[in-house]
Amino acid sequence: MPFLSDTLARVKPSPTIAVTNKARELKAAGKDVIGLGAGEPDFDTPQNIKDAAKRAIDEGRTKYTAVDGIPELKQAICDKFLRENGLTYSPNQVTVGTGGKQVLYNILVATLNAGDEVIIPAPYWVSYPDMVLLAGGEPVIVECPIETSFKLTAEQLEAAITPQTKWFIFNSPSNPTGAGYTWDELKALTDVLLRHPHVWIMTDDMYEHLVYGDFEFCTPAQVEPRLYDRTITCNGVSKAYAMTGWRIGYAAGPEHLIKAIGKVQSQSTSNPCSISQWAAFEALTGPQDYLAESRKAFQRRRDLVVSMLNEAEGIQCPTPEGAFYVYPNIAGCIGKTSAGGTLITDDEVFATALLEETGVAVVFGAAFGLSPNFRVSYATSDDILKDACARIQTFCAGLS
Ligand SMILES: Cc1ncc(COP(=O)(O)O)c(C=O)c1O
Repeated sequence: MPFLSDTLARVKPSPTIAVTNKARELKAAGKDVIGLGAGEPDFDTPQNIKDAAKRAIDEGRTKYTAVDGIPELKQAICDKFLRENGLTYSPNQVTVGTGGKQVLYNILVATLNAGDEVIIPAPYWVSYPDMVLLAGGEPVIVECPIETSFKLTAEQLEAAITPQTKWFIFNSPSNPTGAGYTWDELKALTDVLLRHPHVWIMTDDMYEHLVYGDFEFCTPAQVEPRLYDRTITCNGVSKAYAMTGWRIGYAAGPEHLIKAIGKVQSQSTSNPCSISQWAAFEALTGPQDYLAESRKAFQRRRDLVVSMLNEAEGIQCPTPEGAFYVYPNIAGCIGKTSAGGTLITDDEVFATALLEETGVAVVFGAAFGLSPNFRVSYATSDDILKDACARIQTFCAGLS
């Protein structure tokens, strides 16, 4: 009898770990390494949020809470959805979990049966396909190339839907490309979904507040209210308020689904950390100035990175609408040999050679389901980004 479960055997270890480990090894060996792999803001959590957490401790808010969130936070989430997205939810339509990641996982565990399909546009956030597999479903990956700005078209969505489709996972702005769907682009997708009433929509709006220029964020239930009853709108405080370590994510949707998610949570982790919930309450109800400040810094960094990477030979780097990632294409580098003597056969070899020869750690595109590319997280200082991009330029100039 095998010790490990068959379910676990369906899941692959995170492909990003190899790069991270290699970067750590080189750093330990004294090499000057710049990590552009982290998926978190480099800013500190705003002071008012930290103060709220300290108050929560001092006031003894340190006991178990309701499994899927304190009523105050649930109400603050309803207010946020109405204020920022024009969506009306009541607290019994809201669930709070230990990070957006747990909320997404719980939704899949609560709803997937063997054979159920989940449509995932690629490039995708690394966890989606493996979460689907862990929950017993089948990921259906649809590649969205650079030619369509890494966005899914209505035709592609229509073609991917089968009688077995249970969920369509939508993520805008996207990790890893930063691509954000305009209202019209999203409307084209929701029009398709209207024609397939058995398909549910799981929207991951984690990067909602990180959008630049005149791009305006929108979310499926807002664009097509007729999909409200089969949409679960997921979000969290991790990226918007620099709170990745606090572990608070949330979702709103039909009450019967929210109850099912609560059932999963009640038999696994129970409530998310009580102190973090009070911190998240302050994030959503306190001053919002931090959002505009971080947006300004990220937009400046995005522009810097896009312009420097486009100057590198063989690299094509589109300007994304949001998040803090760019996803340059390296088709022009494939088949060439680096100054250190490595033949660049794919994006994993590119990322490894780049790390070994220049000390810049990026994540290769195959990890996100679309090659040949790599992901840069620009959630680090302007000076570090300039240094890293200059090293990438030198590496590319050395390819022959
Ligand atoms: C697209 C996307 N969704 C969800 C998450 C998970 O967020 P959290 O840290 O709140 O679990 C991430 C984190 O990297 C992400 O990039």
